[in-house]
Amino acid sequence: MENNQPIGLFDSGIGGTSIWKAIHKLLPHEDTLYLADSKNAPYGIKSKAEIIALSRKNTEFLLDHQCKIIVVACNTATTNAIQELRARYSVPFIGIEPAIKPAALHSQTHKIGILATQGTLNSALFHQSMQQYQNVVFVEQIGHGLVELIENGQIDSPTMESLLHQYLRPMIAANIDYLVLGCSHYPYLIPQIQKILPPHITIIDSGEAVARQTQRVLEQTVGLRNPITPSSQRFFTNTDPQVLEAILDHKYLVIPTDF
Ligand code: SIN
Repeated sequence: MENNQPIGLFDSGIGGTSIWKAIHKLLPHEDTLYLADSKNAPYGIKSKAEIIALSRKNTEFLLDHQCKIIVVACNTATTNAIQELRARYSVPFIGIEPAIKPAALHSQTHKIGILATQGTLNSALFHQSMQQYQNVVFVEQIGHGLVELIENGQIDSPTMESLLHQYLRPMIAANIDYLVLGCSHYPYLIPQIQKILPPHITIIDSGEAVARQTQRVLEQTVGLRNPITPSSQRFFTNTDPQVLEAILDHKYLVIPTDF
């Protein structure tokens, strides 16, 4: 089956572009439409009801633009809202959950660090995933303030460095050998995190796995695009487009819009 409608992605801001990059790398012939709800970032401190309402609003924007599948490129929105989205809308949804499974299967120390938002760490979906691995100790840490700094373009700031030291030190002391990044914003912090963690600790983010899952679901359901013409990549934001343009290395124009 062939389907030339775009893949839609949304996030609470610019972090979901880490997922978009993985999808665009694997599926360069697909049209995509990325929606950054930066005006309402961070989602991680909001109630479940608020996260569901924002996720519905984002989904409806993407459906109004004829998206054939929706990637919820935000861990907090996935863990709090994806069940409601799947129940309400007929398009397929791809979610991103912290990649606990590969870490749990390969950990030698049976201790895994998880850095995520409060909304993700408190969600029922996340707790269900953790309970499958009774022999593993999870060292959880809420990344207070990290999303805000990333959204403000302060990835390389001294405040970021000091917060990361504060959050990662207890994990190192607990002898973790895997660190799972449970927020789509955090892959942008990997260079700083690598400077702090000893080299034997492996960092896991879910971008590539989500891209492969998106390809599988497209093949099995709504179909891939005909690659005969060049694909188009569109980006929308409800705040100043500059930060999103910068994270995309100024290769794409971002359209400011009210939603
Ligand atoms: C947030 O908006 O708080 C972070 C988004 C995420 O969990 O991926």
